[in-house]
Parts: sequence; structure tokens; C-alpha cells
Amino acid sequence: MPTITIDGREIPAREDGTILEAARAAGIEIPTLCHMEGYEAGASCMVCAVKLKHSGQLIPSCASKVVDGMEIESASDDVRGARRMALELLFSDHMGDCLSPCQRICPAQLTIPAVLEHLRQDEPDQAAGIVRRDLALPGVLCRVCHRPCESGCRRGTHDEPVAIAELVLHAINVGATSAPSPAAEVRDERIAIIGSGFTGLSAAWFLARQGYRPVVFERADGPADSIRREYPDLPGTALAAELDLLKSSGVELVTGREIDDPAPLLGEFDAVLIATGPGDDKPEVDKDTMRVVGTAGIFAAGRVLRPTGKPVQSVADAKAVASCIDQHLRGRPVQRPPKPFSIFMGKLLDGEMDDFLKESSDAHREETVDIDHALAESRRCVMCHCAKADTCKLRQLAIDYEVNPKRYNTGERLRYSRNIEHPLVRFEPAKCIRCGNCIKVAGRHAEALGLTFIGRGFDVHLGVPFHGTLDEGLRIAAEEAIAACPTGALTHREVERRL
Ligand code: SF4
Ligand code: SF4
Ligand code: SF4
Ligand code: FES
Repeated sequence: MPTITIDGREIPAREDGTILEAARAAGIEIPTLCHMEGYEAGASCMVCAVKLKHSGQLIPSCASKVVDGMEIESASDDVRGARRMALELLFSDHMGDCLSPCQRICPAQLTIPAVLEHLRQDEPDQAAGIVRRDLALPGVLCRVCHRPCESGCRRGTHDEPVAIAELVLHAINVGATSAPSPAAEVRDERIAIIGSGFTGLSAAWFLARQGYRPVVFERADGPADSIRREYPDLPGTALAAELDLLKSSGVELVTGREIDDPAPLLGEFDAVLIATGPGDDKPEVDKDTMRVVGTAGIFAAGRVLRPTGKPVQSVADAKAVASCIDQHLRGRPVQRPPKPFSIFMGKLLDGEMDDFLKESSDAHREETVDIDHALAESRRCVMCHCAKADTCKLRQLAIDYEVNPKRYNTGERLRYSRNIEHPLVRFEPAKCIRCGNCIKVAGRHAEALGLTFIGRGFDVHLGVPFHGTLDEGLRIAAEEAIAACPTGALTHREVERRL
């Protein structure tokens, strides 16, 4: 039995086996995109690169056989750099939006396409669940919000933007009791929040969802005083419903209590959040940790730091600071969550909108979004997001390897299109990395036509032989081809749920 050395560790390997196989058997993780267990290696992506120590050569571990005594680097900077470059080259020929424009522009990062997908499927409970997971106080927020999601909605470049905010309000009105699922664990650490405006109440919501029972201190005689004063037309019932939900989630509201100095609270509480308003003393805050400089457990967020911030920015800040406080209380390094990775198409080229419109209704925006109109309005969404954003291996590796997707941009942008000639499969050629996995799967299922690469060199693309349609190429193996595709090039036309 041959023995090889990976990163200084001697491991046994199977005679005639590959380096990848030996590494994985020894628990050493090497990323792959075009490799499929049980199929011959295509070795096209090079993200499984490892380095031969004696020659310095970089080789694909999925296609390279072990040789007794070989020494390999799989985690050095050189190897990471080579993998990053392989990924960046793939992105130079890749086009789409991992996250939809509406989600990217929403400061609180509401997963809008998933909410709309559930409404389209007449699943308001699930839609409301996503809203409550991603936002705080949505019954108030989406009424007073300046609605950047709608300004950025791609449908708006065709006719009118989707009525996103109204649909969110509809989801929480109709969706079950809107009660969130209880936190997975109960946390004993005590958290004090000073201020019951958007930031304070939202932070309390996100912390309660993580199992804490925060106490919110408000100097006025009633909670949410600043919200009531700023938005006098807000229906009282909307605010009352949100406050009830907070209380039933374990948040304690203490009113008529002014806190001048947060420091003494640390005697009774494990963490303190300053969420007061504009005009109050502005603390100096480390922007990476959201912690007040010179303190261990005092954090600050929201309009006390940026006085002109909009409500949705306060909710976004609250979400971030809740995450920082949670990390702090768990004794982990504190880091404000980064913006989620997404490539983006930007302005559409002539004709591209037609492809987006293929899967949506051609109706105009509904003026009223009530129970009769919600379905029709949600069908206007052209589904800009990538249906595999949460499972795409290319995106995950881009995050792991800190990829700059634009490094090898040539300036000319790849054209985006959407093929829906198959009843089950959506094919987005601009997201195909030409790994060949779907071709292999179709071949194993002895598809009559199957799939193939057509053309040469840079022009090579996936297609069906003899000018066949995708429907004819994937008669039996559609499901497996979708599963084998490491990117969002092949996805289910039925909703791919993103919970
Ligand atoms: S295929 Fe992956 S990288 Fe490409 S748009 Fe979809 S999620 Fe993003
Ligand atoms: S069309 Fe749908 S997915 Fe696209 S930006 Fe508008 S709401 Fe978001
Ligand atoms: S469509 Fe086929 S060749 Fe293209 S990325 Fe997906 S599996 Fe690979
Ligand atoms: S070259 Fe090995 S996984 Fe793609």
C-alpha cells in the first residue's frame, strides 16, 4: 500500500487511487467543483489543486494518482492562491445575481424572493416565517419604510416595481398567528437595552430569537415613544401587535426609567446595548465589533450613532449588533457580520428582460394588495435571484477563498439568458462553468439524446446534440442533472426553497 505525505502528515493511500481520495479518507478537505464520486475525472475546474513539494507543480488532485512517497501541500498560501485564481477565472465567464437586487438593496437583507415564492405557492405561513426571521417589527417597519427594495426592483425597469412592502404586510397579516418558532435554546445571560425605538426593540427581537430574554429600558411612560412621536399616523394596532409579540417572545419592557450611565448596569447584566436616539451622547464605537471603545460589554447602534438613519437602517444595525452581542456572550471573537457575497448583473442588456419575464405574469402592479390580489401581485416578480444561492458550490468557495469575482473582468459582459423549454428544468447558460457533470449523468442514464459540449475553445457551451431541445436531451435524468450541477446553471423550475 503506498504512503503519501500531505501537509507534513503521512497517510496511507489506495494503490491506483487519486490524491483526492486519499486526502478525503484521511479527513483532509480539498474543495472540488467538477469532480463527482464514481465518475471519471474531467479535471476542468482546477479548484482541487494541490502542490507537489519537490517540483512545485500544481496538479488537480481529483485526476492525479498517488505515487508512493510523494509529498503534497494542500493548505499552503500557494495552493490557496491557485484555487482562488481558478475560481476568479470561472467568475470571469459567469453572469447572474446570487441575491436579487431587491434583497441586496434592503439594508436589513430580507430574503424577498423567498417570501414572494411562498406567497405564489399560497403558503403565507412560510412567507411570514421568513419575514419574522429576517426583520424585526415588520408590521410597523414596512408601513413607514422608504422602500429601497422597490426602488431597486428589476420589474420596475419594465413597468412598475413589485409591491414588495404591501406583500410583506400581507404575509404577516395572513400568515398563521405569525408566532415565530421558539428559540432552539434558552440563554441565561442577561442583556440590558437602553431605548425602545426601532434599534432597541429590533435588537431585543433578534436576541430573543437566539434564546435571550433581554430587558428594554425606556425613559418615557410608554414603550416605543419615539416611534409614536415620529409616525403619528401609524395605526396603534400595528404597533400594539408588534409589542405583544415581543413580550410573548420573552422581552421585558421597563418604562419610565432613564439610564444616564450604562456602565453600572454591567453589575447586573452581562451586556448592555445603547440604542438611544439622535441628540443623546454619542459614544465612540469600534465599527468592526460595534462595541463602545474602552468597554468590554457595552455596545451601541442605530440613531445614537447616525442621527439621520432611516428605520430600516436601524433594524439592520440592530440585527448586526445582536449578532455581535451573541458572539461576545458566547466568548467568541466579535465581528460585525459581513455583507453576504453576491455577484450582480447590473443594468440589463437589450433583450435580457424578455428572458426574465418568461416566468412571471404580464399584469400591471396591483393597487391594493389584499387577499384577492396578493397572488397576482406576487406573480409579477421575475425571480432575479439565483435559485441555488444557498447551495451553489461556486458561491460557497468564493466566500471561503475570499474571491474577487471581478478580478479577470474583460470589460465585456456575458449575455444572460434563461431557457425554460424543459417542464422541470430552468437552464441559465451564463451560470454554466462547463464542468460536464450533467453530461456524465445523462450518459449514465442512457438518455437517447443527452447533453454535450458544442463549439470549440472559448465558444464552447452546453447543448443538446442534433439541435434537440433541453426537454429532449433530459427525458429521464433531469432531477439528477440538477443535483449534479454545482452552480445555479440547472435548477428546478418548481420553487427551490430558500429557508
Ligand atoms: S450560480 Fe452560484 S455564483 Fe452564480 S449566480 Fe448562482 S449562486 Fe451566484
Ligand atoms: S422582480 Fe422580484 S426578485 Fe426581482 S428585484 Fe423585484 S421583487 Fe426582487
Ligand atoms: S450545466 Fe452542466 S456543465 Fe454547466 S455547470 Fe451545470 S453541471 Fe456543469
Ligand atoms: S479539477 Fe478537480 S474538481 Fe475540478
